[in-house]
Amino acid sequence: MKKLYGVLGNPIEHSMSPLIHNDAFKRNGIEGDYLPFLVEGAALGKAVEGLKAIGAGGFNVTVPFKESVIPYMDALDPFAKEVGAVNTAVIKDGLITGYNTDGPGFVRSLAPLINGQFAGKRVLIIGGGGAARGIYCAMAKTGIERMDIANRTLSAARQIVADCHDGTPSSVLSLEEAEKSLAIYDIIIQTTSVGLSSLHESPISLMGIKEKTVVCDIIYNPLKTKFLREAENNGAIIQTGVDMFVQQAALAFELWTGISPDCERMRQLVLENLGG
Ligand code: ATR
Repeated sequence: MKKLYGVLGNPIEHSMSPLIHNDAFKRNGIEGDYLPFLVEGAALGKAVEGLKAIGAGGFNVTVPFKESVIPYMDALDPFAKEVGAVNTAVIKDGLITGYNTDGPGFVRSLAPLINGQFAGKRVLIIGGGGAARGIYCAMAKTGIERMDIANRTLSAARQIVADCHDGTPSSVLSLEEAEKSLAIYDIIIQTTSVGLSSLHESPISLMGIKEKTVVCDIIYNPLKTKFLREAENNGAIIQTGVDMFVQQAALAFELWTGISPDCERMRQLVLENLGG
C-alpha cells in the first residue's frame, strides 16, 4: 500500500514539493504519494494528528507553520531544537520527530561553489527571520572564519546570534552598515522576503562587493532577483534559491526513505516548472 506524505502550509498551491517528491518516489520504486495540504492555523494540531492516525510516513511544514508546529512533535532533532523551527517530520512507530533540513540544505547547496572550503571564509547573512536562523545555525557549524548578520530589526539578528552561537565570531549590523563593509565578505546570503515576486526590490545595494564574492539568494521566484542581478553585474558568482530548495527536499527524502534522490533531476524539474 502507498505511504502518504505531504506538505502543510498556507498558502500551498504553488508548492513544488509534490512535483519533486512524487517524481523521486517513482524513480526510486517507492510506493509513496506526496500531497499539498492547505491548513488553517487553528487546525494545525488536528492536521498533524490526522496524518499520524492514518499512518502517513512523514510531511514537510512550510510558511507559516515552521515554528508553531513544534508543540505537536513527539520528539525534536537537536538541530531543529536549536533553530526553533521544523520543516520536516518523520512518523515512525506512531511517533513524530521534527527535523530542520533548511539550514543543512543551504550548506549542502553552497559547498560545491566553494569547493567544500568553509574554513577561512567570511560570511554575511542578510535577514533575521526564520530562514536566516536556520542558515546561521547550520553555517556556524562549518568552521567558517566569521559570520555577520545584517537586518532591518537589530534585535531579531541579535537573538539569532544568542540562540545559535557556536563560537563563530559574529557582529550584528544594520543594513546601511553592511552595505558599507561588503568588500570584506567572501560569501553573502540574502534571506529576507524583499525581492520575492518582484523584480524591482532588493534589501541592499551590492555596489561594494569584491569580485568573485559568492552571492546567494534563497528566493527562487523570480529565479534571478534584483539582488542577484546586481551581484552578477558586480562580478559575483551567484546562486539562486533553487539549489537550497532542492537540497532541503533531498535531505527530507533521505530521512523518510534512507535513499539519496537525484538532485540534478529535482533541480531540472523545478527549473522547468518555473518556466526557465
Ligand atoms: P522567513 O521565515 O522566510 O525568514 P520571516 O521570519 O517573516 O520569514 O522573515 C522575513 C525577513 O525579511 C526578516 O528579516 C525581515 O526583517 P525584520 O526582521 O526587520 O522584520 C525581512 N524583511 C521583510 N520586509 C523587509 C523590508 N521591507 N526591508 C528589509 N527587510 C525586510
